[in-house]
Amino acid sequence: MSSAAAAISSATSSARVHIRPTGAALGADVLGLDLSRPLEADTLQALQAAWDQHLVLRFRGQQQLTVDDHIRFSRHFGVLDQRPLAAKGLHAQTAALPQEITVISNLRQDGQALGGLGDGEAVWHADMTYQTIPPKAALLLAREVPAAGGNTYFANLYLAYDSLPADLRQQIQSLECVHDASRNSAGELRLGFADTTDPRQTVGAIHPLVRVHPGTGRKSLYLGRRRNAYIQGLTLEDSEALLDTLWAHAVQPQLTWGQQWQEGDLVAWDNRVTLHRRDAFDPQARRYMHRTQVSERTA
Ligand code: SIN
Repeated sequence: MSSAAAAISSATSSARVHIRPTGAALGADVLGLDLSRPLEADTLQALQAAWDQHLVLRFRGQQQLTVDDHIRFSRHFGVLDQRPLAAKGLHAQTAALPQEITVISNLRQDGQALGGLGDGEAVWHADMTYQTIPPKAALLLAREVPAAGGNTYFANLYLAYDSLPADLRQQIQSLECVHDASRNSAGELRLGFADTTDPRQTVGAIHPLVRVHPGTGRKSLYLGRRRNAYIQGLTLEDSEALLDTLWAHAVQPQLTWGQQWQEGDLVAWDNRVTLHRRDAFDPQARRYMHRTQVSERTA
C-alpha cells in the first residue's frame, strides 16, 4: 500500500479496507475489497464514513460482480429505485434485467438500444433533481469501456458552497430553484414534455439552492442542472445572472475530479453533494455500464 493511502481498517473483518484519496477535490479508491463477497457490518460502516468524506468512491477490479451482487451491494446503502419508465422501449436483453438495473450504453442490437445516454456528451447534472425526492446515490459498474473518451467528471458541492464569497453565500441562503424535468442529461426531450425555452415556465421540483446533508450536517450548493433552471421570485435576468455565477463557480477544475474508466470499475457517488458530467466518445467503440440508484426513501 502506498504511503499516500489512508487506512481505515475494519477490526473484525478478514478484509482490510484501505481508502486512498484521489488527491483532487473529491473521490477515493477503495482497495482490497471483493464486492461479490459478503461484507462485515464494520466494513460497511467504514465504507459509509469514507463515502461521506470523499463523496465518490471507486472500487477497481470488480469484473466478477454479477447483476445480483451489484444489487446486493447497493442495497447496503438504502432502498433501490426501479429503472425509469422511459427505459421501457429498450431491447429485450435489457428488459430481462432486474428492475433495479439501468443500462447506460451506446450499444444497439437488432436495431434497438441496449441502454440510455448514447455516445454523446452528458452535461453537468445531478441525477433526477427534478423530482421532489431525488435519489441519494448511484453505483455505476463499467462492464465494457472505450479505449479513449467517455470519462466521467465529478464536482464537489460542499467545496463549491464553502468557497463562495461570503456575501453570495448569504444572498442564496433562502433562495429556491426550479429543476427542469423536460430533458435528460444528453439534452434529449423526454416523452410528454413541452420544449420549454422560458425558464419561468419550467416544470419540475423546487429545491433550496443550499441544502444540508442529512448524514454529515454540512451545507452544500444544490444545483441540479443548468438548462431551464429558474430561481423563484427573481426576475428572469437576475435569475440567469445568479445561476451563471453559481455554475461557473461550482464546476471550476479545482473543485472536480475525472474518472477514467477501466473495465470492472464500480464508481459510487453521493448524488446530493456532487454533480457529474461525461465526455463524448467514438460511436464505434463499445461502452456498456450497469447502474443502480439508491433512493432517499426508506421503504
Ligand atoms: C450518468 O450521467 O448518470 C452516466 C455517467 C456516465 O455514463 O459515465
